[in-house]
Amino acid sequence: MKLVKHLANLGYGSRKEVAWMFREGRVTDANGEVLYADDPLDHDNVRVDGEPLDPPPGLVLMLHKPAGYTCSTRDPGRIVYDLLPPRFRLRNPVLSTVGRLDRDTTGLLLMTDDGQLLHRIVSPKSKLPKVYEAELAGDLRGDEAALFASGSLLLEGESTPLLPARMDVLGPRRARLVLHEGRYHQVRRMFAATGNRVVALHRPRIGGLDLGDLPEGQWRPLGPEDLQRLFATGDA
Ligand code: URA
Repeated sequence: MKLVKHLANLGYGSRKEVAWMFREGRVTDANGEVLYADDPLDHDNVRVDGEPLDPPPGLVLMLHKPAGYTCSTRDPGRIVYDLLPPRFRLRNPVLSTVGRLDRDTTGLLLMTDDGQLLHRIVSPKSKLPKVYEAELAGDLRGDEAALFASGSLLLEGESTPLLPARMDVLGPRRARLVLHEGRYHQVRRMFAATGNRVVALHRPRIGGLDLGDLPEGQWRPLGPEDLQRLFATGDA
C-alpha cells in the first residue's frame, strides 16, 4: 500500500489533503528525511509533523466511558468518539464500539477496527462474562439472585428467556451482576422485572480484563497481553 493511502486510511485527511501534507514536507521518516506520497509503507518509521503515526489497523482500545456519552457515530449529543483523537472517527477500516453501553452507563467499553475480533468478543459462543454493578432505587427483595440464575426469566416483549446470570448482593440497594449475553438495556430490564429501577450502572470488567486504574474519560490501546486476559475468563 502506498503511504498516501495509508495516511488517508488512518484519518489524516482525504487523499488530496494527505497529498498536500507530503508536498508541504510534513511527512518524514524518523530521521527527519522528507517522504513522498508513493514511498513504500514502513508504519513505525513515519512521522507527521515530527509525531509518530496513530496505531495501524488492528487497533483495539479500552475506554473508561463516563455517563452522558452515547455509543454512536451520529447522535447529536456527546458521543464516545469525542473522547478519542478526532482522527479516530475517520479511520478506514472503521473503529467500532464492541457492543454498547447505554448513555448513562459508565465503565469498560472496548473499541476495535478488527471485525473478526469484535465478532469473537460479542459472540455468545465465547461466553465472555460481563460484570455490572447496579445501584437501585429500591431495596432488593431477596429473590432476585434466584430469579436471575433460573434461566427462565422472560423480559417484556421477548420470546427467549435470559441465560442464567449470577447476582451478588453488595448492599441493600446495590448488586453485582455477571451476564453472558448482551440484550438491549438488559440490566435495567432485569431489575424492572423485579419491580425495581436501576439508578446508576457501571461495568468494571469484561472477561478477565478490568479497567484497572484508567481514569474516567481516558482510553488506552490494548496489547496482546490485554487480549489474552480478556479471553482468559476464569471466575468473574
Ligand atoms: N445493561 C443495561 O441495561 N445497560 C447497559 O448499558 C448495559 C447493560
